[in-house]
Amino acid sequence: MSTRVEIHQLDAVVVGGGGSGLAAAVYLARQPNIRTGVISKLYPTRSHTGTAQGGVGAALGNCDPEGDSWEWHMFDTVKGSDYLADQDAVEVLCKEAIDLIYELEHMGLPFSRTPEGRIAQRRFGGHTVNFGEKPSRRACYAADRTGHMILQTLYQQCIKHSVEFYDEYQVIDLLVEGNRCQGVVAIEIDTGVLHVFHAKAVLFATGGWGRMFEITSNAVTLTGDAAALVWRRGLPLEDMEFFQIHPTGIYKLGILITEGVRGEGGVLRNSEGERFMERYAPTMKDLASRDVISRAIYLEIKEGRGIGGKGCVNLDATHLGREVIEEKLPDIADFCRTYIGVDPAVDPMPVQPTAHYAMGGLPTDVDGCLLADAEGTLVDGVYSSGECACVSVHGANRLGTNSLLDLIVFGRRAGLHMGAYAAAADYVPLPDDPAGRAIEQLERIRKGKGDRAAILRDEMQAVMTEHVSVFREEPGLSEAVAKVQELRERFRDVKIDDTSERFNLDILEAFELGCLLDCAYSTATAAQNRTESRGAHYREDYPKRNDEQWLKHTFQHLRNGDKVEFSYKPVTITRYQPKERVY
Ligand code: FUM
Repeated sequence: MSTRVEIHQLDAVVVGGGGSGLAAAVYLARQPNIRTGVISKLYPTRSHTGTAQGGVGAALGNCDPEGDSWEWHMFDTVKGSDYLADQDAVEVLCKEAIDLIYELEHMGLPFSRTPEGRIAQRRFGGHTVNFGEKPSRRACYAADRTGHMILQTLYQQCIKHSVEFYDEYQVIDLLVEGNRCQGVVAIEIDTGVLHVFHAKAVLFATGGWGRMFEITSNAVTLTGDAAALVWRRGLPLEDMEFFQIHPTGIYKLGILITEGVRGEGGVLRNSEGERFMERYAPTMKDLASRDVISRAIYLEIKEGRGIGGKGCVNLDATHLGREVIEEKLPDIADFCRTYIGVDPAVDPMPVQPTAHYAMGGLPTDVDGCLLADAEGTLVDGVYSSGECACVSVHGANRLGTNSLLDLIVFGRRAGLHMGAYAAAADYVPLPDDPAGRAIEQLERIRKGKGDRAAILRDEMQAVMTEHVSVFREEPGLSEAVAKVQELRERFRDVKIDDTSERFNLDILEAFELGCLLDCAYSTATAAQNRTESRGAHYREDYPKRNDEQWLKHTFQHLRNGDKVEFSYKPVTITRYQPKERVY
């Protein structure tokens, strides 16, 4: 292991080169005299935002005769969250959406167009006209490549504003002292050299941790790095029990088939050819919220109506016709032809629910400032936005299209706030040996003699899929908590084959597995702790929502490496009182 360490000093460091990190970087770098760096373990335009397909939500009202309003969008988001989202934050999300979409358009984002030349909008699950009357067209889209276009547009803006990029650097440690940010430590993947980034402000925007499950839409890079790093530093995670399982991934592969297919009129059918969502959600049908549809698919399969007796149902878009599919859904058509030999214009697509999105994460306020506890104490200079953050605008279940929106709304807000903070703040001096903990972690992996990372990963994914997925109950949750803790112990002696310095992906994969195990531990313990059903967290042994006891956010601190301490934060309710959720 190289102990070569280089030290950099930057006003603001963004960790993660996806949509939210780049949005923050653009608004940081536009401010005078804020030297801004983006550290990304990937080349930024390969980030997972690029795989987001169906659209970004905003109440432009371009495509429905009734128009649209941010209040309708806010109501749908709060209802979708099963009333756990903080309504002051949701109001910010839905109001700022409208201007931001036009701002992206002016930056050059090539949205699809209506015949009159306006930004095209399509239907998406849970989005309605007039507080639930009927499905609305609110998802602004660029065919089924919306995330890709956002990523490219923001990257170009970063280049224009001279953001400094540290591509293919993996962050290993956060440096923080007494709730004040000092910076981060990263490894340069090509050389193995460690880099200490001494910074006034750091933003984490590293995405989710869907790789803790077997079947997922998430890229291999989504390993919860930021969540693990802050948790290990004694800072809390919020609402980790809420993990979204998207209804439609390609059977056995998990690759996302956008909800935009159903937005354009595609329908789910069981082995009897029945459009079964009519039974589960009589008004919204195939456009109900994701938690509702994923549960329905599991029940259809459990009751023997999976296609060919297998663990999948059909997503039928054949009636849309080739022209619509090729124009509006070209990428998913290509995926199906390439990976499973199915042409969606001719045959239905076999789909199953796929682990998709973390609703919980690093607790922040609406400016992206990290919270140190449930009482709202801030960690000066540490920020988070995007999927790894929990503002909370998604509560217990996120609506489709609100993820891309969250990335840009809260990325922009965090960037603006960080810039102002960095302009006024001084650097907090670095500790004596800033790279010491990072070196220690990597050296331990290099010297391990136990199981290989792949073995531990398989066991983690199996237990999380079996017991902490769409349906959960005791004693499965106890089994999952115990198993993940056992895996975390075995991880302390994880073994790798490649001990070289340069481009050592073996060691980094093991490091990422450690992060995933921490996320799995946090998720399983939080799921066991919440004895009610709400949104994506469905307990068969507690099938009802229990507002009296559980209308609150979970905060979890990690003490002494494995003891999880819970505390709670009240939900902010401004406009919409909780009521029964029906679609
Ligand atoms: O189905 C989709 O296109 C996914 C969108 C989202 O997660 O927001």
